[in-house]
Amino acid sequence: MDSIELRRGATVAEQKFDPLRQVPYDFDATDYGTPARTGEAAITLTIDGRSVGVAAGTSVMRACIEAGINVPKLCATDSLEAFGSCRLCLVEIEGRKGYPASCTTLAESGMRVRTQSDPLQALRRNVMELYISDHPLDCLTCPANGNCELQDMAGVVGLREVRYGYAGENHLAEAKDESNPYFTYDPSKCIVCNRCVRACEETQGTYALTISGRGFGSRVAAGESQSFMDSECVSCGACVQACPTATLQEKTVIWLGQPEHSVVTTCAYCGVGCAFTAEMKGDQVVRMVPYKQGHANEGHSCVKGRFAWGYATHKDRVNKPMIRDRISEPWREVSWDEAITFAAGRLRAIQQTHGRDAIGGITSSRCTNEETYLVQKLVRAAFGNNNVDTCARVCHSPTGYGLKQTLGESAGTQTFKSVDQADVIMVIGANPTEAHPVFASRMKRRLKQGARLIVVDPRQIELVNGVHVKADYHLQLLPGTNVAVINSIAHVIVTEALLDESFIRERCEEKAFAQWREFVARAENSPEAMESHSGVPADLVRGAARLFATGGNAAIYYGLGVTEHAQGSTMVMGIANLAMATGNVGREGVGVNPLRGQNNVQGSCDMGSFPHELPGYRHVSDSTVRGSFESAWGVELSPEPGLRIPNMFEAALDGSFMGLYCQGEDIVQSDPDTQHVAAALSAMECIIVQDIFLNETAKYAHVFLPGSSFLEKDGTFTNAERRISRVRKVMDPLPGYADWEVTQLLSNALGYPMSYAHPHEIMAEIAGLTPTFTGVTYEKLDRLGSIQWPCNDGAPEGTPVMHVGQFVRGLGKFLITKYVPSDEKITRKFPLLLSTGRVLSQYNVGAQTRRTENVQWHHEDLLEIHPHDAETRGIRDGDWVGIESRAGQTVLRVTVTDRVVMGVVYTTFHFPESGANVITTDNSDWATNCPEYKVTAVQVTKVTQPSEWQRRYQRFNTKQTQFYDDRQLEGKAATAAVTAPVAAK
Ligand code: SF4
Ligand code: SF4
Ligand code: SF4
Ligand code: FES
Repeated sequence: MDSIELRRGATVAEQKFDPLRQVPYDFDATDYGTPARTGEAAITLTIDGRSVGVAAGTSVMRACIEAGINVPKLCATDSLEAFGSCRLCLVEIEGRKGYPASCTTLAESGMRVRTQSDPLQALRRNVMELYISDHPLDCLTCPANGNCELQDMAGVVGLREVRYGYAGENHLAEAKDESNPYFTYDPSKCIVCNRCVRACEETQGTYALTISGRGFGSRVAAGESQSFMDSECVSCGACVQACPTATLQEKTVIWLGQPEHSVVTTCAYCGVGCAFTAEMKGDQVVRMVPYKQGHANEGHSCVKGRFAWGYATHKDRVNKPMIRDRISEPWREVSWDEAITFAAGRLRAIQQTHGRDAIGGITSSRCTNEETYLVQKLVRAAFGNNNVDTCARVCHSPTGYGLKQTLGESAGTQTFKSVDQADVIMVIGANPTEAHPVFASRMKRRLKQGARLIVVDPRQIELVNGVHVKADYHLQLLPGTNVAVINSIAHVIVTEALLDESFIRERCEEKAFAQWREFVARAENSPEAMESHSGVPADLVRGAARLFATGGNAAIYYGLGVTEHAQGSTMVMGIANLAMATGNVGREGVGVNPLRGQNNVQGSCDMGSFPHELPGYRHVSDSTVRGSFESAWGVELSPEPGLRIPNMFEAALDGSFMGLYCQGEDIVQSDPDTQHVAAALSAMECIIVQDIFLNETAKYAHVFLPGSSFLEKDGTFTNAERRISRVRKVMDPLPGYADWEVTQLLSNALGYPMSYAHPHEIMAEIAGLTPTFTGVTYEKLDRLGSIQWPCNDGAPEGTPVMHVGQFVRGLGKFLITKYVPSDEKITRKFPLLLSTGRVLSQYNVGAQTRRTENVQWHHEDLLEIHPHDAETRGIRDGDWVGIESRAGQTVLRVTVTDRVVMGVVYTTFHFPESGANVITTDNSDWATNCPEYKVTAVQVTKVTQPSEWQRRYQRFNTKQTQFYDDRQLEGKAATAAVTAPVAAK
């Protein structure tokens, strides 16, 4: 496999370059010491006799390094502001006394700098001698050997002796902190350069670290001199990356040694889409390091992408295809040939018996664009219907619908970087610090610079009252009342003449605006009238509305707390209305920004995963669009929209939908009303699950096709900014095939030929058929690093900000957003409202993160309840409680907290046995059927034993686990003691 050798300071010109494989784009590993300043080269100075031009505000150190003149450094690194503590970077400046530190001295016009002289050499050596006299001399056995800046600097300054000896007072015996599962803190190696402290503050925004003590006694301390695990640390790894020594070191590097080569790829967890270098030894990942040139993350990461990748080689991986006639039988391990033939035969038999429309497929937002494209193509071209849907159905389908109707495109409008220019940030129904942590760090930086914050959320999320970030307004509404609040904000803006009239006049449909204006101005939409619905005091709504309309650039970021409602689509339209009404669309610092949950939610929607839309959001009934696909694919396509996931379940229970191909999606755990889903799956004749683990859905399956992790395949993901980034294969697929190859095998077996040799050929087909992707190629992705669609003749390098000058639909369209209370109402029987969400350390259904050390932070789903609601029920912190809704009942342990308001309870859904979705109901968004996960009326009571559902689940799970353990191996008799097919590496 081609790869990049890790050589410090090497540039792209020196690297191997294979445009279809692993290449770093504009790869420059140089550390310039201090951050870049933007702008023209306004300053000219002379360094070692050479004339050098730099932007104003650039440090002397950076000016030197940009000119190719090396200056030794230890406490400086270009991801952090200069600190000036190590005194290694001293230079001489003509006309100035002494030897200033080049990292903290700004370049000035006419300045004459010398970086080399005998006195400088002596001073630098002296500094290094002091460092080394208090440093273990264990370089040969140190895990950072070969990748240690202290070691490098000793060489650079020509250190040959340590005159102070090693016998004086030192820190060599200090104990390590091994509490974090992923990295070690070894204070004996610490040079107190403060880089970790600054990384935690500036990059991550957590402030978990300090330098405790003074002078010689100074040491890095987590929290109040706690262990890392007990402190506020969120294990993002920024400090580890910033540390120039082995003081903060990844445990995998300690165990495995320094990596030998690396591949740039994209995180497979959330919709931020961080770029990483997978640093490897052979085909073994040693560590994932956030990529400095990654456009979405610029070198930052969170605990999931940085550390929680071990699931990819976990012993639970199932790497052999399996089949069985009935789910009441043990699995039979078979060859790929047999499994694919069996699956295709079953699907065709169902169609012969029940009709062409009796089968369908589900694409995954965890898979690549190329893979989702192939699954929808398989359904439309080989199955011959449009019964394809995606897990985006249950998260952001209202975003697609609502933004298309109002703005003309089913996607967010900005880059993440745009938040740097926002003056007012409104976060609605999103919890970025938990679910989109790298973007949250960027947002927190902007807030610390003075941007104002409005949070609309039933819970007190961290942003509301953080240590260094506080919301100006927290509109703590009752679940289900988003539309009431957005309408009342709009009411204030309209009735107090805070509209951006010229923007509306030039950019929006006049008649629709006039109707909307008349609608929101009605007294029924005033904050005072809506207060009784939402629970938000009217004066807070009025204050927030005035701030949003008059505070400068105002940007809206929203999440599933907006979409997963009966009025999800209405709320998305309400958000778009608000942005248009205040002129906050079409430039940097503003916009409507859906924060996508999974890594490729945007991509799976773009790729035509919905039953009514071909790739590029074009309706299947459009004969021109359909014609272009028909001629490319060589088949006639159905003009009728197919079944959505909930319709598939209904049809299965009716006996008209009998076969399902489900790639990379665990519908049993993630979809609402688990018992309904299980009943529907049990009614089907053939369920084909393609996944890396035997997930909850696979327990109802007849065919299991082993999936491949993101490390095992090539492709692209599209993040929440519409940014298409490359996923690059770092190891061969453990089951032998990447997911796209398996879909291709199935299609061929069904008689519809597919013959792609590489995913870049699939992308070429997508580009040929999808106007917003016309200009996308792997070569361009490698060259530019990433591309935000639309990318076509009009925007050959992509479109960072959408709707500039005019909306995609021409004129923006205001839509009436009448507030309709949810059908899900509290009653005497169910007096509390349940909302669900995520935590930082776990991801979605937890299939990946539960198989990593992340369980140390979150090993069970807990129910949050307000102290008053707990007290009236005699519930204490840690008690087991039964949670019952009209859909079902489960039992969880409780945590008593005022993060939730009275009357509201909250839980996560990361563990299957929790059964959070046993409780959620079949209510859904009126336009898209996105489930109303965020509003379920429940009762909570103290209990002592699991619920009936949990007992049934345990029995079923035990039986299905046994069916896997008892599986008949390929060509061998059944055995009761089979070890997992692939051992953990
Ligand atoms: S891992 Fe992240 S949060 Fe924890 S101390 Fe380091 S920088 Fe701070
Ligand atoms: S732990 Fe590392 S980064 Fe932090 S002060 Fe010590 S040497 Fe510097
Ligand atoms: S923020 Fe999201 S994309 Fe970035 S490392 Fe974390 S999980 Fe991965
Ligand atoms: S690098 Fe300038 S003082 Fe440390």
